[in-house]
Amino acid sequence: MDLINKIFYSAASARYKVVKKVLILGGTGDAVKLAARLATIPEIEVISSLAGRTKKPSALVGQVRIGGFGGAEGLANYLQENAIDFLIDATHPCAGQITMNGAIAVKAANIHHLMLVRPQWEKVSGDNWIEVESVAAAAQAIPASINRVFITSGRQQLEPFLQRSQIYPETWYLMRSIDPPDIELPNSEVLLDRGPFSLEQERQLLRDYQIQAIVSKNSGGEATCAKIIAARELGIPIIMVQRPASPEGEKVTGIEDAIAWLLESRINF
Ligand SMILES: NC(=O)c1ccc[n+]([C@@H]2O[C@H](COP(=O)([O-])OP(=O)(O)OC[C@H]3O[C@@H](n4cnc5c(N)ncnc54)[C@H](OP(=O)(O)O)[C@@H]3O)[C@@H](O)[C@H]2O)c1
Repeated sequence: MDLINKIFYSAASARYKVVKKVLILGGTGDAVKLAARLATIPEIEVISSLAGRTKKPSALVGQVRIGGFGGAEGLANYLQENAIDFLIDATHPCAGQITMNGAIAVKAANIHHLMLVRPQWEKVSGDNWIEVESVAAAAQAIPASINRVFITSGRQQLEPFLQRSQIYPETWYLMRSIDPPDIELPNSEVLLDRGPFSLEQERQLLRDYQIQAIVSKNSGGEATCAKIIAARELGIPIIMVQRPASPEGEKVTGIEDAIAWLLESRINF
């Protein structure tokens, strides 16, 4: 390449942005892994966004921002002001609001959008699931005869169990979460722990605490799946909270598929 061409090409590449910015909506183990993988790809800048619910979130590779955006409009503004090229929604499948906001915001900002949605758990022979649409419905669906309940649906939605405990004060609850809950259930114990949990651990826990029913969200994935298998083995019913409806848009189920999508979109962008 002669000198004139060299000057032309370096001026052109300075004018056009080569680095692509990816915003990951996070709060899940998959989002942590995705950020780490994307950080190794040249010319990709990764920013992970967390709601700020967990006091000590898992360590993230790349930039991190914490806190809500202020609805879909706030997120659209953020995408534009920060010149984000790609939004990858890797939030928990039950985090319906932020996913809806993401789908609206990308249209306003006119950028590429992908939802990383791990497959949900499917009921198999031997499972005894009571499927409900919300945590409130789950609390109401616990049979009156059940006295020892394992709550794994998160510390943020304990109000319905507090209400239930006023009707059935004899029920005892075991609550597992990463951070301590704000609400204290009267007849309960809190286990502070972060998955993944092994099958042996879950079997032991269900036996030790003489659990008669589990409340779970249909999170899918491997990290918290062992309780589903242990419950099946021990004949324990699960009150399973279904996922909210998700918006139309491009979806993949795994991290490698998300990376392939990004690399392909980058070429065509
Ligand atoms: N729901 C679950 O069972 C669950 C389980 C494990 C982890 N998580 C994680 O915890 C976070 C909150 O879950 P949620 O169910 O409360 O969500 P949500 O109901 O869908 O979202 C409520 C609001 O929280 C803010 N928000 C949520 N995720 C955010 C993110 N990644 N970055 C910035 N702001 C975010 C948004 O506020 P603004 O409207 O102000 O932007 C959103 O409107 C999510 O990131 C999710 O991945 C949720």
